[in-house]
Amino acid sequence: MSEFANSIAVLTSGGDAPGMNAAVRAVVRAAINRNLQVYGVKRGYNGLLNGDVVQMNLRSVSDIINHGGTVLYTARSEEYNTPEGVKKAADYCRSLGVKGVVVIGGDGSFRGARDLSGAGIPCVGIPGTIDNDIACSEYTIGFDTAMNTVLEMVDKIRDTAQSHDRCSVVEVMGRRCGDIALQTGIACGATAILVPEKPHDIDTMVIDKILATQATGKKHFIVIVAEGVGGSAEIAKYIEEKTGIETRATVLGHVQRGGSPTLRDRVVATAMGHHAVELLANNIGNRVCALQNGNVVDFDITEALNMKRVFDEDLYNIAMDVSI
Ligand code: F6P
Repeated sequence: MSEFANSIAVLTSGGDAPGMNAAVRAVVRAAINRNLQVYGVKRGYNGLLNGDVVQMNLRSVSDIINHGGTVLYTARSEEYNTPEGVKKAADYCRSLGVKGVVVIGGDGSFRGARDLSGAGIPCVGIPGTIDNDIACSEYTIGFDTAMNTVLEMVDKIRDTAQSHDRCSVVEVMGRRCGDIALQTGIACGATAILVPEKPHDIDTMVIDKILATQATGKKHFIVIVAEGVGGSAEIAKYIEEKTGIETRATVLGHVQRGGSPTLRDRVVATAMGHHAVELLANNIGNRVCALQNGNVVDFDITEALNMKRVFDEDLYNIAMDVSI
């Protein structure tokens, strides 16, 4: 008989996020400590459809905690998102004999985990996305690293904007969520921050603000635009037309997804990976790990998927109050 009484699988799915590797590492280590064998599934749910899995050991997750991306690779699988795909993946899990699957990703990945749980394979989701857009959790793995990358880039953009007395419009990621824009906008001292959760009238929220701050002596301006608002090139053109201030637009793009994870991302990822294994080891599935008041908790996947995100109005008001 094997030294392992049982096994679990772990996969990363959707857009990669810095800290996913730390979560994979924690899952593998915590599982092996509980006599569970671990299969690493390659390229998200695709690996369950084409049998692309590897057995993980303690050393297969050495030296990955400090790396961005995901050693398991990731994908958004079209084939899995069909009833036949889910059945095929569940059958494959049964053939491997896994007692559960840890799914590290965002909302789309959790819908896949819910479906796999429904097909008889208990799953536990871990929020891994730079967007911070998982309603049940106050934090998602990768958010802090992405924001620090944005900050570093905008600080560089500020140097050149200042030298030329220009305005710089910077578009940041986040899909439909404005959290990256709001927090980086505050941290880089933006004159205006546009997020999808709030009205974004360019005349009152950008042009009037630039002109008002210009009247107090300010000569260069940073405007942060969330991806969910979009149109940064058009906004830059409009600012130049209306104010006469030379304006440039920068879409930061995928640079925000890479890089060595921050301490916060490594710690949260480790705590959530550990929690996910404890659930599966106790035969509890169909759950999503979440951070609530700084503690790792878990929710039923369907309940988690039905929750509505709450935008941080207080922080938004603070941002509006001080960007003058
Ligand atoms: O969900 C993470 C994210 O980077 C979003 O911020 C962005 O909208 C999207 O993924 C980009 O996806 P892709 O990598 O497929 O271009």
